[in-house]
Amino acid sequence: MGTDMVLQLAILVLTLGIFFVLHKYPRQALNKIRTRGRSTAQANRHFINGAQLLARARSVRNRTTAANLAKDAAVEADKALAFDPRDAAAHILKALILDLMGHKSSALRSLDTALSSAAAKSLSGSDRGDALVKRAELQIALNRKRRVESAVVDLEEAVGLSPANSKAYCLLGVCYEMKGMKEEARKAFEEAIRLEPRSDPARQGLNRLAT
Ligand SMILES: *[C@@H]1O[C@H](CO)[C@@H](O)[C@H](O)[C@H]1NC(C)=O
Repeated sequence: MGTDMVLQLAILVLTLGIFFVLHKYPRQALNKIRTRGRSTAQANRHFINGAQLLARARSVRNRTTAANLAKDAAVEADKALAFDPRDAAAHILKALILDLMGHKSSALRSLDTALSSAAAKSLSGSDRGDALVKRAELQIALNRKRRVESAVVDLEEAVGLSPANSKAYCLLGVCYEMKGMKEEARKAFEEAIRLEPRSDPARQGLNRLAT
């Protein structure tokens, strides 16, 4: 098996891992952002309903039930956005719902809106960092080669905003690896392991670089 193929396989495994994590987007992050940037009580109510429906959609096993809950969650997110189209948190919620529904391109567009200059003011630094990591994940998942440059830009900003984000360093390592920047990749994987010693993807990354 050539190095190229090993790398492809590693990326695939990491991407699958990412989807697992994506579906369990830090709930505390959602709880945190829901308290900020609400322009009206009604928008707030729809946002909370949407976040709760999303949490239920993620936890139920029955796929039909999950799909219906996700649809209901999307309706709530849209209602929240109707009250306040510049609410970054509601756009992030919508992105997470779309991702769960398998609409990754649309999820990416919602994150683009959340991170655009018009909406971004309502996000704290670490929330922006989380959203950037998520956008980079989607970019890599959707089209690794073409979007690796923009994923790197997002991740470099993300590790500046939330320097304790092990996953961001690990993804950055993979991106550097794809670009052939081995030394930078090694440093990123090492940082990921320093932050989260049990990170398998980061260890596997270091092993790939060592061969
Ligand atoms: C999932 O839920 C739907 C609707 O409630 C039901 O008709 C279906 O039989 C369930 N499927 C499984 C596999 O339990």
